[in-house]
Amino acid sequence: ALIGKGQHRHFMLKEIFEQPEVIGGTLNTMLNPAERTITLPSLPFDLGVVNRVRIIACGTSFYAGSVAKYWIEKLARLPVEVDIASEFRYREPPMEPGGLAIFISQSGETADTLAALRYCRAHGQHTLALVNVPESTISREAEATLLTLAGPEIGVASTKAFTTQLVVLACLAVGMARSRGAISGETEAEICQALAEVPARVAEFLRRDDEIRLMAQGISEARDVLYLGRGASFPIALEGALKLKEISYIHAEGYAAGELKHGPIALIDDSVPVIVICPTDELYEKTASNVQEVVARGGRVVFFSDQEGVDRLASPPFAAMALPAVNPFVAPILYAIPVQLLAYHVAIAKGTDVDQPRNLAKSVTVE
Ligand code: G6P
Repeated sequence: ALIGKGQHRHFMLKEIFEQPEVIGGTLNTMLNPAERTITLPSLPFDLGVVNRVRIIACGTSFYAGSVAKYWIEKLARLPVEVDIASEFRYREPPMEPGGLAIFISQSGETADTLAALRYCRAHGQHTLALVNVPESTISREAEATLLTLAGPEIGVASTKAFTTQLVVLACLAVGMARSRGAISGETEAEICQALAEVPARVAEFLRRDDEIRLMAQGISEARDVLYLGRGASFPIALEGALKLKEISYIHAEGYAAGELKHGPIALIDDSVPVIVICPTDELYEKTASNVQEVVARGGRVVFFSDQEGVDRLASPPFAAMALPAVNPFVAPILYAIPVQLLAYHVAIAKGTDVDQPRNLAKSVTVE
């Protein structure tokens, strides 16, 4: 079927705005909002006895896996290793049989991810695909598949595939935690409640697209941009930097906020925007103190938090935006949206080809 852009100027923008719907649709496959429980599809292996988890992917899908590491380790108390597929496969890592290997891929066709899947199967791992294309090679070759219901993603820069991957991984983390007896019914209910509210919070935030567009004007002239985050917000900083460089061609780097003083602080002056992803979770104070360090050196901080987080900041940033307050567990899903929109509007301000950025391919099926 022919897929159009509808009222939107680009596929990327259309796909960003589809997120409330596709996040909701993906959640509906696993979440029971009345009972506030999650039911995973039946799998051909027992999550309760898996003793280690490996997540392997490329690009934006790798960052979704990186968020999942925080979730699974915290909730299910299971050690998780996350790998870039092209590094994993050539390293020939030793693996004890009985582990679970999860392969995240929008297309389900990425060559390095597929090769890593074959390696894991040959080494006695249970394999689980998380894809957006059910009939894809990665889905067919894995023992089991979980689907993101993002619908076709046309823009080269991944948006709705990423947030729906996060949704499935959040549900998987809860499911793993429950099968291991690591989570109380009360905690599960709270997380389910928070997940059920995500589509509405995302929709609420998308109505403020104009504010991001104005913010982007101040960034489009920059040569370098730094993104900072801690905990599960760190991969969102990485994803924000990736989105910006992919479509605006501005050099951007994502950094763990705690690593600021181990290098990137040397770059700070008033020409380097520093985008900070800082929900009010248990790490808020730590990241807020990094903000002070940047502001004290004349850096231009663009601060994403909720109203409480913005109010608590001691010295005023260059710009701030208060997102809807959410349970910190689901914050990575919500905070993905401002970094997508920011990259989009900076690219528009620069006049680049948002849907077809130079040198990039939607699906990398060569090695
Ligand atoms: C390419 C795309 C990215 C994507 C990556 C992994 O680089 O441009 O948007 O994240 O491949 O693709 P996959 O289909 O495996 O998620």
